[in-house]
Amino acid sequence: MTRTPVNVTVTGAAGQIGYALLFRIASGHLLGADVPVNLRLLEITPALKAAEGVAMELDDCAFPLLRDITITDQANTAFSGTNVALLVGARPRTAGMERGDLLAANGGIFGPQGKAINDNAADDVKVLVVGNPANTNALIAQRNAPDVPAERFTAMTRLDHNRAVAQLAKKAGVTVADVKKVTIWGNHSATQYPDLFQAEIAGKAGFEAVGSDQAWVEDFFIPKVAKRGAEIIEVRGASSAASAANAALDHVHTWVNGTAAGDWTSMGIVSDGSYGVPEGIISSFPVTTKDGKFEIVQGLELSEFSRARIDASVAELVAERDEVTALGLI
Ligand code: NAD
Ligand code: LMR
Repeated sequence: MTRTPVNVTVTGAAGQIGYALLFRIASGHLLGADVPVNLRLLEITPALKAAEGVAMELDDCAFPLLRDITITDQANTAFSGTNVALLVGARPRTAGMERGDLLAANGGIFGPQGKAINDNAADDVKVLVVGNPANTNALIAQRNAPDVPAERFTAMTRLDHNRAVAQLAKKAGVTVADVKKVTIWGNHSATQYPDLFQAEIAGKAGFEAVGSDQAWVEDFFIPKVAKRGAEIIEVRGASSAASAANAALDHVHTWVNGTAAGDWTSMGIVSDGSYGVPEGIISSFPVTTKDGKFEIVQGLELSEFSRARIDASVAELVAERDEVTALGLI
């Protein structure tokens, strides 16, 4: 049976994450080896030529699943009929820029893109925001798309989740497949809380599997995961690209195809008030997914230690929401 191609939009397509992402989407790693795709590449005008170069290389791969490529600097065109939108392009922080300037500059990108999704996307659109500050950019896009169900807008904390899994596997001396039920709570920023206390590692409780070593958790594990993005920038000389692209593929693949039994993942999603996280902000939670929908894992018991860290990251998200509200962006 020939399947109808899925329309996948990638913004910032000529950037470094775009370059690590597009070839894997076209080879079936986003939606599956039997799902044809049309790619819609959105770039700013000066980067259109570079995006054309990437499209030439995509052609040269002769990917059997890749049907059609559109390159444009018009958001309405890029999001026309889109089923999956990966919002990667963002305004990076540059020297002398305050956080408010960064939020305002990104509001100028994610507000109009949210509106273009609202007006043009397919009814089943799923949106993943990768561009930083990812949670608040996702909030801006979501609030500018009132006709799209709020739960379709998500922010990426899967890279943090994968980083946490890798660190735990190393410490416990097991493979990554043995590490389950890790959670990233809060913001995709240095305040995030990577939580191993609910995890299961090779059949043991997560904390026990790392030697019940609280000092390791506090002084190594949490900062290692939360500050890994900065560490990559320092060591590699550029921000994470292949691992970020890989996490974007994982995020959407899990959202569409479901979490494995006995496991969950982490996604930045619109809070429904669970775990005391104020309704409406986009915060990372433990979620299970099935049939293209996700649910927050309920009933987890949080220690005072965990509670304080979740509260700190959520407070940062509330401050960001208040700032973009004051700027008139939402
Ligand atoms: P990059 O600078 O290499 O590429 C960004 C691209 O976006 C550029 O080609 C630029 O022209 C384009 N762009 C800018 N404004 C645009 C707009 N309005 N519409 C369409 N395209 C636009 O950056 P990168 O390394 O690919 O990273 C992209 C973003 O992802 C950054 O914000 C980065 O901080 C973020 N990031 C997030 C995570 C995460 O885990 N959530 C991880 C890594 C990077
Ligand atoms: C990451 O987590 O690797 C990125 O968000 C870092 C960054 O600032 O781009």
